[in-house]
Amino acid sequence: MIFEKNILCIGAGYVGGPTMAMIAYKCPQYRVTVVDINPERIAQWNSDELPIYEPGLYEVVKASRDRNLFFSTDIEKGIIESEIIFVSVNTPTKTFGVGAGMAADLQYWEKTARQILQCAKTPKIIVEKSTLPVKTALAMERILNSENKGIHFDVLSNPEFLAEGTAIKDLEKPDRVLIGSSLTDSGLKARDELVEIYANWVTTDNIITSNIWSSELSKLVANAFLAQRISSINSISSLCEETDADISEVAHAIGMDCRIGNRFINASVGFGGSCFKKDILNLVYLCRHYGLNEVADYWESVVKINDYQKERFVYNMLTAMFNTLAGKKICLLGFAFKANTGDTRETPAITIAQKLIDENAELVISDPQALKNAKADLKDMGGKISYVEDPYKAASGTHAIAVMTEWDLYKELDYDKIYQSMNKPAFIFDGRNILDHKKLFGIGFNVFPIGKPSMTHFD
Ligand code: UDX
Ligand code: UDX
Repeated sequence: MIFEKNILCIGAGYVGGPTMAMIAYKCPQYRVTVVDINPERIAQWNSDELPIYEPGLYEVVKASRDRNLFFSTDIEKGIIESEIIFVSVNTPTKTFGVGAGMAADLQYWEKTARQILQCAKTPKIIVEKSTLPVKTALAMERILNSENKGIHFDVLSNPEFLAEGTAIKDLEKPDRVLIGSSLTDSGLKARDELVEIYANWVTTDNIITSNIWSSELSKLVANAFLAQRISSINSISSLCEETDADISEVAHAIGMDCRIGNRFINASVGFGGSCFKKDILNLVYLCRHYGLNEVADYWESVVKINDYQKERFVYNMLTAMFNTLAGKKICLLGFAFKANTGDTRETPAITIAQKLIDENAELVISDPQALKNAKADLKDMGGKISYVEDPYKAASGTHAIAVMTEWDLYKELDYDKIYQSMNKPAFIFDGRNILDHKKLFGIGFNVFPIGKPSMTHFD
């Protein structure tokens, strides 16, 4: 079959895989190939056990795989055969040298740009899918045009706004698709070509275009604003605990103001995920680079409050449980950074686990999707840690349960049965405010929600 376009994506991760699967699904007229340096990952994409858990993803992949969606390790061939190349290799926080712990590590991006340059024989449109510091496209254009091969490359920015757990829904009906380009004739032509791809299923009102720097910056700012809402509500949760106000009631009251809105104001043990912290630190680094120290401090405080929320959570556990956790068994219900994913990157559960191990507690970790990742995350932590998927078995014989992830299944457990199997006095620390606290208290638990009065059976 002759395809209208040949699209390549370099990086078969959480972003590249689902995004390309959706393009292939919606556009059978295009050939979409996803390549990755990791052969194991590609083998998983070609199997019935996809490398990531995402509701609805398997169905979308299955409908298009080997029809117009292909997963391969042959990056060179992919580059040669494609006209449009999405790049979604990871851009983690730098761990070395200048900007360590803050700036984005762009080595994989640059390596990929050089490989494209080396292999390309025809003009290409290069699309930044990875989240990058503003002005990266400039560096990319300089690298791509560094050899006089007579081939023209246009670089576009098309940040991905999907959230894990709802990736398929977000891809199918995005709030907006953002495409940034340079404003030259060639840049605008490249931009229109990408608009045409998305217009196969996204209404044109929801496809917005901008200059390339605005697009790069918008991704960082969107994540910073979302994270800032969580830190804002979490900061108030600590005040609620001191004053007997209830954070859910406060959130409801402020959220009904349509200027504020009711989304992303659920108090929690803290935000996690691969993006929020990384992108805010990246923004902070950029601001400092431009001498905007007050602005940098403002955004950095979002991360500081998030760290404080996790510290506070463990401190509350320690003080509630008579100032010692040594030798006590604690069940972490959930390990993923949010429900409906097996992803544990930057999950608050890692920090909580570390702090509990520092207190010499013994941990039982439970999660329906994330135990494999949890084992890898905690393998060097030391201490006594076991992994049990069945929540009843996991909680049995423990002194306390700490809810880390808002999985629906945890709302429906038989807590009477769990209470019977636990050491007494039994404690529940609800890091997601998803449980029926009054009912738990009635069963006999000592209950500690986030941002609400605790309920204990002690005088
Ligand atoms: C993405 C974005 O790319 C990142 O910038 C954004 O902030 C978060 O989402 P994600 O898809 O979550 O990253 O990353 P990951 O799941 O780690 O996938 C990246 C893939 O790129 C991996 O499979 C890795 O093997 C691959 N890769 C990395 C390459 O193929 N080549 C490289 O040189 C480096
Ligand atoms: C985020 C952005 O939402 C998405 O647009 C971007 O492309 C990538 O980063 P993701 O990290 O997958 O997506 O999940 P998100 O739903 O934003 O949740 C992030 C964290 O915030 C999770 O740990 C979640 O539990 C937490 N959260 C979210 C809260 O603690 N309270 C809330 O009200 C909402």
